[in-house]
Order: sequence, then structure tokens, then C-alpha cells
Amino acid sequence: MNTTKIAVIGLGYVGLPLAVEFAKKFPVVGFDINQSRVDELNSGTDSTLEVDDDNLQSVVSLSEVEGNNGLYLTTKPAALSDCNYYIVTVPTPTDKNNRPVLTPLIKASETIGKVLKKDDIVIYESTVYPGATEEDCVPVLELYSGMKMNTDFFVGYSPERINPGDKLHTVTKIKK
Ligand SMILES: NC(=O)c1ccc[n+]([C@@H]2O[C@H](COP(=O)([O-])OP(=O)(O)OC[C@H]3O[C@@H](n4cnc5c(N)ncnc54)[C@H](O)[C@@H]3O)[C@@H](O)[C@H]2O)c1
Repeated sequence: MNTTKIAVIGLGYVGLPLAVEFAKKFPVVGFDINQSRVDELNSGTDSTLEVDDDNLQSVVSLSEVEGNNGLYLTTKPAALSDCNYYIVTVPTPTDKNNRPVLTPLIKASETIGKVLKKDDIVIYESTVYPGATEEDCVPVLELYSGMKMNTDFFVGYSPERINPGDKLHTVTKIKK
């Protein structure tokens, strides 16, 4: 049985395709704050059209996944507590002055910080400016977990390269 359990935080254009691919090899929890998005995906349809219904339905599980693969979709943060990899794919919009709005990233970091355990790894895939991971996100993880980066837990930044609507260069074909 896998000891790896992956959480994907934010199930949009970027997060859902990633969660579906990981779920073919690992148990995955897909977490989103939008209940109607989770309901839609649990019914087997992705309105962003990034993931085909058959592909989605081949991995979705309506109960928590304990085995070697499968995707459990939820709005409940408690379901994240036994994951050890956390991948953050929440939106990073800009405001009317074109300044980045980090609120979703901060909120996602709070959610993760509350369930983070020793040796867990957090990977940010949302698009941010240089320094945002260490200056804005890591302090939130440390505050809510009571632990220290690079001693107790580890963090990576891996900006997503997905191109919505491009059916040729999909998530499995883009090298990172
Ligand atoms: N879509 C793209 O083409 C693309 C390409 C490269 C990079 N990116 C970057 O990837 C990130 C995600 O983009 P996207 O297009 O997938 O966004 P999206 O709006 O399609 O999806 C984001 C999802 O995150 C959820 N969410 C918001 N706040 C949350 C929170 N606190 N906890 C859990 N879920 C939360 C939303 O409900 C939504 O379902 C952004 O930073 C974006 O800039 C996107």
C-alpha cells in the first residue's frame, strides 16, 4: 500500500487535471471551498472541459480513498489530515490596480497549516511573483502548524504551465 497521500487544494483548470492524473497512481484528496464545484465533479462532469467525463469517472470515489489510487473530492478540511503532500492550485487574481490578490493563497495556507505534520511537503503551483512563497505563504504555514520550514516540513514552488483548451499539450505532456 502507498504511504504517499496527495492533497490538491483548488480544483480549477490547473488543479483538477493534476488531481486526476495523480489519482491513477496514488490516493488523492481534492479539496475546494466551492461546494457546487465539488458536487459537479462528484456527478462525473467537469464544466471547464479540461478533463473528459470518462477520465474523471475512472478515478472519482464517493468515499475516502484508503487504497493505492482514487480521487476523493471534498470541501471538508478534516479529510486533508492524513495527506503528506499538499499541492496548492488556487486562483491568484489581480485587483483593479493590477495588484496580485493573495487572499486565496493565504486561506489555502491556513487550511494546510492546520493539518500539516512533520516531514510533509507543500508545493505551490499558483502563479505568484518572486518571493511570495517564502514571504507570504510560508509564515502562514509556520503560524498555523507551529512548525518550521526546512526543519519540520518542506516547501516547493512549481508554477503551472497548463494551457486551457489545448487538447494537444495536456498536463501529462508538458515537461516541468
Ligand atoms: N488556467 C490556466 O491556464 C493557468 C495557467 C498557468 C497558471 N495558472 C495559475 O494556476 C492557479 C490556478 O488557476 P486556475 O485557472 O486553475 O483557477 P480556477 O479559478 O479555475 O480554479 C481555482 C479553484 O480554487 C478554488 N479555491 C479558491 N480559494 C480556495 C481555497 N482557499 N481553498 C481551496 N480551494 C480554493 C476555487 O473554488 C476554484 O475551484 C492561478 O494562480 C493561475 O494563475 C493558471
